[in-house]
Amino acid sequence: MSASVIDGKAVAASLRDDVKTAVDQLSGQPTLAVVLVGDDPASHVYVRNKIKFTEECGMRSVEHRLDADVSQDMVVEIVRALNADASVDGILVQLPLPKGMDSDAVIAEIDPGKDVDGLTETSAGRLVLGQPGLRPCTPTGCVILAKSALGDLTGKHCVVLGRSILVGKPAALLFLEQNCTVTIAHSRTKNLPEVCREADILVPAVGRPEMVKAEWIKPGACVVDVGINRVPNPKKPGKSKLVGDVDYADAQSVAGPITPVPGGVGPMTIACLLRNTVLAACARRGWDVPEILAI
Ligand code: GUN
Repeated sequence: MSASVIDGKAVAASLRDDVKTAVDQLSGQPTLAVVLVGDDPASHVYVRNKIKFTEECGMRSVEHRLDADVSQDMVVEIVRALNADASVDGILVQLPLPKGMDSDAVIAEIDPGKDVDGLTETSAGRLVLGQPGLRPCTPTGCVILAKSALGDLTGKHCVVLGRSILVGKPAALLFLEQNCTVTIAHSRTKNLPEVCREADILVPAVGRPEMVKAEWIKPGACVVDVGINRVPNPKKPGKSKLVGDVDYADAQSVAGPITPVPGGVGPMTIACLLRNTVLAACARRGWDVPEILAI
């Protein structure tokens, strides 16, 4: 068996094209507001890209940059002002917030109708209850990538490895929405390799570099690797490189469609954020959701 690469960059670019097409069909311009607190370099890069792609898709962006020593009350005040601003459709508070700030308390302030990250309790509750709502971006990206490789996922056995609030749990529920049979495996699961080897779709999301080996993968299975781990680069002393939770070189001898790291799930997160911004705008303004954005 030789693996085929799922090109996350290409799938994300295609989704961004669909978002742009959808935006062009709407009678108004959706707006995404981004709140960035502090000077975390990675967060600055993420936010720059989010704003760049928002504008490339024909949407408006609003940016609030705050110093790391700003009070939590001030951040909450800004979120409340964005909630009240009728011209804003989506609100994203970039994480992590500076030490000492209670991210959960800040996120809880976001109007669920504008929760384009899908992180509020209301969004999570709607996902569990199977009600319409804004779904978290990275897990949605995993589903879109699996569908890009396999088509209809009905009846497939999906094993999500990891039970985090941000990825594992919502990913399991989203694959369930696609009529998969879903198993959530985690650090306390017995016979982890055997459980993973049952998967038609394996979604490792544990943050452990190259933990998943070829023996963990059923021949031909689809592997959607959520892990993004920075490790020393043995070929370039003193430098680092990114690897997933899957030992990619090892897995290639067994897997079917597989996402690389980088260039797999990563690019999907922003594309799904843009999609959510359009969905939020449509829901808030009573517009029909453009067909092109259906999953
Ligand atoms: N920080 C890293 N990834 C994300 C994300 O998807 N959303 C938010 N809000 N912060 C992040």
